Amino acid sequence: MKIKTIKQIRNLSGKRVLARVDFNVPLENGKIIDDSRILASIPTIEYLMKKGAKVILVSHLGRPEGLDKKLSLAPVAKRVEELMKKKVKLIRTGRDLSVPDKMKNGEVVMLENIRFFPDEAKNENDFGKKLAGIADIFVLDGFAVAHRDSGSVTGVAKHLPSCAGLLLEKEIIGLSKAIEKPKKPFVLVLGGAKMETKLPVLKNLLPKADYVLIGGGIFNTYLKAKGFKVGKSLVDGDYLKEALKYCSIKKVIKPVDVIVGKESGKVARVVPVGKKGYFAALRMTEGVYDIGPQTIRLYAKYIKQAQTIVWNGAMGYFEQKPYDVGTLSIARLVASRSKGKAFGIIGGGETLQVMEKVKMTEFVDLVSTGGGAMLEFLSGQRLPGLKLLTK
Ligand code: 3PG
Repeated sequence: MKIKTIKQIRNLSGKRVLARVDFNVPLENGKIIDDSRILASIPTIEYLMKKGAKVILVSHLGRPEGLDKKLSLAPVAKRVEELMKKKVKLIRTGRDLSVPDKMKNGEVVMLENIRFFPDEAKNENDFGKKLAGIADIFVLDGFAVAHRDSGSVTGVAKHLPSCAGLLLEKEIIGLSKAIEKPKKPFVLVLGGAKMETKLPVLKNLLPKADYVLIGGGIFNTYLKAKGFKVGKSLVDGDYLKEALKYCSIKKVIKPVDVIVGKESGKVARVVPVGKKGYFAALRMTEGVYDIGPQTIRLYAKYIKQAQTIVWNGAMGYFEQKPYDVGTLSIARLVASRSKGKAFGIIGGGETLQVMEKVKMTEFVDLVSTGGGAMLEFLSGQRLPGLKLLTK
């Protein structure tokens, strides 16, 4: 996919550039607990500043219904200031959109949470056009929001010369490596809970992947569809038929053993998969919560020979010990094979969280900032935010 980027825009000096970033970061008691999304867009902001642009940052935070002080971007503006060692004024927009008349070249301001405007979500009442009115050029840098057809993503792009920022460009180049011509063997590792978002990825990448290693809710749903007793396991009842169909394909590699036990982590034990009889003793208060040791060994064999790896989704209930072993092992294996041996891509909130936990994020080639956006991209969908930037 070829898109227009800021590197192709000449003469940014003195231009008002509206940069749509995704600074939708997790907060706890008003404090940012993970600033990765902010860090990821700093190179774009610095690039624009160095070129003498007047930078207007736009982001959402959470899903407010109207003005909600708890979702103010104030802590985010402060964090950008700290990272860039430069003043970043937060514009507390009221009903109208406005920025200071006399911005200096290289100055950076940030609009307050764009979702405080009710017209933003569906680009109602020409909201995008109004946003365009405060700028000369539009830059989309927040890959994580590129799947939203909203005023500050698609609406504004219809009214201004538009291009991708450095982060968005990096994400598209990296993810395209997996969906266009992946180096073989291409191993997709898919776990997590929501079949609704994972199944389209599986369907789209199955013809390209050499092996798909599954775990988590996808596998539980398959087990249930096969008639296994799964107790309290996370299962997506609406997708039993599809799980059975797609997970029965030969190149979809399934766990050969799992960890079952109570949700609390008690009475956890290894159970081989194969005969339903092994699951017969599973109580209704128990469930399948992780992949087992033989499965980790088996999956390691595939990951160690991969040239391209894409991983999204946990292998089980990793938040609760001892059910974290499978997911942490996959994280270590994926990171160890990445940067050099294979091109490794990871994405999704919990996947990134686990990679951080094993302190190996730096070894992964592409750590996608997009959750839903990454899954939609890997599903082969054209993200609304990218359509207008395509050359
Ligand atoms: C995300 O966190 O996935 C993005 O910021 C998009 O947020 P949204 O799902 O609220 O649109």
